[in-house]
Formats: sequence, structure tokens, C-alpha cells
Amino acid sequence: MKYSPPTFIALLFQSALTLSSPVVDQTNHGSDHPIFTLHNITYSSSTIYSTPAHLAVQDASIQFNLTNTAVDYTTECSAFLDSDPAVFYGNQNFTCKVPPSVDPEASTNFTYASEGTNGAFEIYSIWSGGVYGDERRTFLGVGNGTAQLTCNTTSWTNTNWTPGQLYSTYEVTCSPAQLDITPIVSHIKTQR
Ligand SMILES: *[C@@H]1O[C@H](CO)[C@@H](O)[C@H](O)[C@H]1NC(C)=O
Ligand SMILES: *[C@@H]1O[C@H](CO)[C@@H](O)[C@H](O)[C@H]1NC(C)=O
Ligand SMILES: *[C@@H]1O[C@H](CO)[C@@H](O)[C@H](O)[C@H]1NC(C)=O
Ligand SMILES: *[C@@H]1O[C@H](CO)[C@@H](O)[C@H](O)[C@H]1NC(C)=O
Ligand SMILES: *[C@@H]1O[C@H](CO)[C@@H](O)[C@H](O)[C@H]1NC(C)=O
Ligand SMILES: *[C@@H]1O[C@H](CO)[C@@H](O)[C@H](O)[C@H]1NC(C)=O
Repeated sequence: MKYSPPTFIALLFQSALTLSSPVVDQTNHGSDHPIFTLHNITYSSSTIYSTPAHLAVQDASIQFNLTNTAVDYTTECSAFLDSDPAVFYGNQNFTCKVPPSVDPEASTNFTYASEGTNGAFEIYSIWSGGVYGDERRTFLGVGNGTAQLTCNTTSWTNTNWTPGQLYSTYEVTCSPAQLDITPIVSHIKTQR
């Protein structure tokens, strides 16, 4: 096959472009297509009545550890509610604990909505990683997913209740679950 010079130059340019993409992918350590994994998702709640009419304690907690394939540290996430009702409605952001000194840009927040024994999570995570020439890039990943939790409920009522004793307890504990989320990633900052 024979190419006229302009076509040949265009082809050279095109192959240089196609060759450059995998090189960029290798240096960004997967930052463009990371997976978030929520490990050991555990939910528990308890409701305690001190009289038939008086709610003494109501609380709920959710926790999990988050890994992101683009980074090599684990972020610890948890939230605790003791308001009445102690229900996660997904309308509140909770801040996760990024290990200190791994990455000054890093932060992760989540929302959680418990729907029966299902839990809908939304994750917002910022990390920096990948060295692109002399650049360091910071990314924001946003994603959501639902975990099916397997829970036990235990309830107890004091049939011989007299004032001063507990009247009833209701506890829910769920065994650890795992959830993978593919976030939508945007490149939010470049540092040289
Ligand atoms: C999940 O929990 C198990 C058992 O407690 C523990 O061995 C494992 O390291 C935990 N995973 C993460 C990512 O924290
Ligand atoms: C989360 O990870 C931390 C540190 O690796 C560990 O101490 C903790 O037990 C883990 N929590 C869960 C819920 O797996
Ligand atoms: C949680 O924070 C993110 C930004 O970090 C925001 O986009 C989102 O609307 C917030 N969600 C709620 C329920 O406040
Ligand atoms: C998480 O929330 C904190 C405090 O509101 C905020 O400074 C941070 O930018 C948020 N991070 C993400 C990834 O949304
Ligand atoms: C959940 O993520 C999907 C993409 O995976 C997106 O289309 C959808 O808008 C997200 N839902 C919410 C409530 O953010
Ligand atoms: C639920 O109860 C069963 C039977 O008592 C027990 O084997 C299981 O470990 C419990 N699960 C949780 C999450 O507590």
C-alpha cells in the first residue's frame, strides 16, 4: 500500500495518539477506573423502653471500611444516631476517617439510607494519586450502591414489669456485608 505524504503524516499522528493512551493508563495506577469496596458493613440498632410509654434509648449505627483500588490505604467510615427516631434516611453526610498523613488532599463522606434490611450508600471520595510527568492529580469519585444486609432481630418484653425495671428491648444486628461501587470520577485539581 502506498500513502501520499499528507495521509502518511496523518497516520503517523494517529498511531502516536493511540500509542499514548495506554502509557497514560499505566502511570495513573487505575485512578481513572477505580472501584470502591465497602468491607464489613455492619448495622445495628437498639430500642429500649423503660415503661410501656417511655422510650429510654434508641440508637442505630452503621460502619464499614472503604478501599479504593486507586490508593493503598483503608478509610474507616461510621455513623451513630441516638435521636428519636434513630433512622438513617440518607439525608445526612457523615465524614470518614482517612489514615493521617497518607494524603493531605484525601477526604471521604457518605450518606446511608436504611430501607428495611437494605442499605443504600452514596460515597463521595477525594484522593490524589498518580504522577503524570511532573503533575500530581486530585480526583473526586462519586458513586452509590445498595447492600443486602442479613439481620437478626431480638425482642424482649418484661411481662412482670414494675416501675424501675426495663419494660422492653428491641435489637437488630446485621452480619457483615460487602459492596462494590464503580464511582464516576472527575479530575478536580493538578499540582506541579
Ligand atoms: C473485615 O473484618 C475481618 C474480620 O474482623 C478482618 O479480618 C478484615 O481485615 C476486615 N476488612 C477490612 C477491609 O477492614
Ligand atoms: C477497619 O480497619 C481498621 C484498620 O485496618 C480495623 O482496625 C477495623 O477493625 C476495621 N473495621 C472493620 C469494620 O472491619
Ligand atoms: C453530601 O455532600 C456532597 C458533597 O460532598 C453533596 O454533593 C451532597 O449533596 C451531600 N448530601 C447530602 C444529603 O447532604
Ligand atoms: C466531606 O465533608 C467535609 C466537611 O463538610 C468537606 O470539607 C469535604 O470536602 C467533603 N469531602 C467530600 C469528598 O465530599
Ligand atoms: C447512582 O449511580 C448511578 C450511576 O451508577 C447514577 O446514574 C445515579 O444517578 C446515582 N443515584 C444517585 C441518587 O446519586
Ligand atoms: C443471627 O442468629 C443466628 C442464630 O442464632 C446466628 O447464627 C447468627 O450468627 C446471628 N447473626 C447475627 C448477625 O447476629
